Amino acid sequence: MHQFECYFNGILSDVKGEVNPVLHCAITYAACSGGKRVRPKLMLMMSEIVGVSVDVILPYAAALELIHTYSLIHDDLPAMDNDDIRRGLPTVHKVFGDAVALLAGDALLNFAYETLFHRIEPTRSAILAATKLSEAAGMKNMVSGQATEFVAQTQDLNGLFDIYRKKTGALIAVAFTIPCILADLPPSTLQTFEKIGNLVGLIFQLVDDLIDTNTTDENEITAVTIIGCQRTKDIISAKTNVLISLLRDAPYDCTMLTNYLLELSNRCI
Ligand code: IPE
Ligand code: IPE
Ligand code: MG
Ligand code: MG
Ligand code: MG
Repeated sequence: MHQFECYFNGILSDVKGEVNPVLHCAITYAACSGGKRVRPKLMLMMSEIVGVSVDVILPYAAALELIHTYSLIHDDLPAMDNDDIRRGLPTVHKVFGDAVALLAGDALLNFAYETLFHRIEPTRSAILAATKLSEAAGMKNMVSGQATEFVAQTQDLNGLFDIYRKKTGALIAVAFTIPCILADLPPSTLQTFEKIGNLVGLIFQLVDDLIDTNTTDENEITAVTIIGCQRTKDIISAKTNVLISLLRDAPYDCTMLTNYLLELSNRCI
């Protein structure tokens, strides 16, 4: 991940001279404040598995993390989850105010695509991969999931899982599918990894719900508020078993990836 951090810090510092200083400060505060880098890490691991070079994948990995960062800034705003703390630090709007936080999100989302379009070769697969990223982040997926969470609150577990697949799963799934697209893998292999990616995303949000148990507001609905901690843990462990068998049957050696995914699942145990 050292290469990713250098690349990521580099693209942020390259634009510093052209960006409003307060906005740049807010963006750097959000993007470099101890995030786990789960999505770029998964994307780099998948690239190694399917044979995509680091140079080719880095712009996608950076764009993915920039979009993730924007989504968290907006997610924390008073109009959404109204959270004061993220990663142990005051949230962006607490430090810089709501207007700068909104604009930092807008800037990061656009910067993700600027980063991509400046740096990728305009091949068919590169453009398809960029399109997949935009669809995962956009109103068919992440934004829709966030909207449904607020507009149509559900107490139905399957309805909640549909929201999770969109608000969290889609952006995690592209860490799996984009390397497959760039490696021109056959559709059946792409589908296998898409299934794996979607499952990882759903498990990830369920683990996040468990970790957040003590800080969940009374008006928030999560898997834990619907079925409780123990049943949420049981579902995570059943889904993790399915995930392991899918990875075992995949047409590549996924041992290291599997170990990392187990680490992520085990964070709530
Ligand atoms: C938090 O994501 C938001 C969810 C989708 C659950 P992460 O847990 O990946 O956040 P950071 O970037 O590591 O803080
Ligand atoms: C966040 O879900 C999902 C997105 C930002 C798209 P949460 O609201 O559960 O994430 P945290 O708990 O604030 O990190
Ligand atoms: Mg939220
Ligand atoms: Mg939140
Ligand atoms: Mg949460």
